[in-house]
Amino acid sequence: MFSPFLRPRRLRASAGIRALVRETELNAADFIYPIFVVPGTNIKKEIPSMPGIYHLSADMALEESREAYDLGIPAILVFGLPEYKDADGSSAWDDSSPVQRAIRLIKEALPELVVVSDVCMCEYTSHGHCGHVENGKVDNDATLDLLRKVALSHAKAGADIVAPSDMMDGRVQVIRQMLDSVGFIDVGIMAYSAKYASAYYGPFREAADSAPQFGDRRTYQMDAANAREALREVELDIAEGADIVMVKPALAYLDILRQVRDRVTLPVAAYNVSGEYAMVKAAAANGWVEERQIVLETLLSMKRAGADMIITYHALEASRWLQR
Ligand code: PBG
Ligand code: ZN
Repeated sequence: MFSPFLRPRRLRASAGIRALVRETELNAADFIYPIFVVPGTNIKKEIPSMPGIYHLSADMALEESREAYDLGIPAILVFGLPEYKDADGSSAWDDSSPVQRAIRLIKEALPELVVVSDVCMCEYTSHGHCGHVENGKVDNDATLDLLRKVALSHAKAGADIVAPSDMMDGRVQVIRQMLDSVGFIDVGIMAYSAKYASAYYGPFREAADSAPQFGDRRTYQMDAANAREALREVELDIAEGADIVMVKPALAYLDILRQVRDRVTLPVAAYNVSGEYAMVKAAAANGWVEERQIVLETLLSMKRAGADMIITYHALEASRWLQR
């Protein structure tokens, strides 16, 4: 019988030895928990395609944030559904819109919880595109003026970090300049740098009522076929003043995450998006996969690929599982 003298299995023989040689660790402190804020009070309504995720009025968003904070999750990411929509999405910079109200409430009650706000137009425009539309096209530079107003409104409400997700060229630069010019020098920018045009956003667009009413987002979000272009987007955002760069979606783009991690010194975030969440939830509900294990394995793969932090709808559940 052949007997090899090199035996990797030695280091897998017990839980103790496996713990000693483990290269990557998942913690509640890695997570950013996204929440969807709606108008009204005392509202907590489950989103059908995202079981366990809710439309929350500002007061309930605070309760959900408290739960995240108590579990050791350091940050939330706030999305909003506005009271009204128009062509330029003016409710996005309305200081009394749900996002702004929720941010004020949460920062007042939980000052140590990091509040990240998504800066985009698609939830607020009647046409559902991420910017100003002119002759059926999304006008980059006109959109920058809108994004600047949204970021300012979020910073005034108390956001610690603004996160532009629109994919317009130059948005990080104009937002950084604006924040600095009005004294918000400590408000950070988490740039959705490598954001792909993806079918994985489907459940989110239903939840946020933000699907484009004509065409698609391929003239501003990235082509799934491109990797070098992601590195260029990341480089530009860093040059424009981003504090954190992001790769989105995560699971189908782990190669991009690894390449970005190997090239930059800034923190890198991965966005484990709505479609990734919905697929796991649907399979688990059918008993086809073991939810807890598959979620932790998936999130761990994102850390292993290089993510310093993971935006995930699984944050609350995963944190509870990790405590045990
Ligand atoms: C807004 C935005 C989207 C997501 C985050 N911010 C949707 C989109 O670009 O259409 C997707 C998040 C998710 O799917 O979980 N631009
Ligand atoms: Zn958008």
